[in-house]
Amino acid sequence: MAYKFLLSILFVALASHIAESCPNIITRAQWGARPANTAALVTNPPTHVVIHHSATAGCTTQAACMNLVRSFQNFHMDTNGWADIGYNFLIGGDGQIYEGRGWGRTGAHAPSFNNRSIGVCLIGTWTSALPPAAAINAAHALINCGVATNRIRSDYALMGHRQAVATACPGNALFNAIQSWPRFSNNP
Ligand SMILES: *[C@@H]1O[C@H](CO)[C@@H](O)[C@H](O)[C@H]1NC(C)=O
Repeated sequence: MAYKFLLSILFVALASHIAESCPNIITRAQWGARPANTAALVTNPPTHVVIHHSATAGCTTQAACMNLVRSFQNFHMDTNGWADIGYNFLIGGDGQIYEGRGWGRTGAHAPSFNNRSIGVCLIGTWTSALPPAAAINAAHALINCGVATNRIRSDYALMGHRQAVATACPGNALFNAIQSWPRFSNNP
């Protein structure tokens, strides 16, 4: 009896430890996503994390960030004809993480990496300026959470969108910065 009690305490402690290792994520329901069906990742947990910028204005409030996220989903579905918003996650200048396709789904963000990566978009244009510290911290927290919960491989390679295809994304300033983030790969 006593050992079962101790085991259940241990389990609750472990579960809350895992929960604590993950930041809050604003769900699709919370930002008002349109329903969408996307394919599961082919390689799951994925081997790559691809960093993007949105090449739009940034946002510093939850209301403004949600507006942008909804506009990206509309553009990706209605103009590009994609199944859903392209990214797995988006991060606002408000420091909040917005669920895109989410964990375990194939994205539409980086040719030849989509079915084996998680695509994370830092909302804004990071050509000469860096995202706010809160957004960069949220990106690290999201990646660490993915590794801790086995939704990103622990030996993942971090890369920028421009390493998959000729594009300015994620902007020169952000691309320079991510080269000193953990697990950045010159040759992803
Ligand atoms: C995964 O993506 C690669 C590269 O784009 C593609 O060649 C491959 O067919 C995809 N795999 C599946 C099962 O869709």
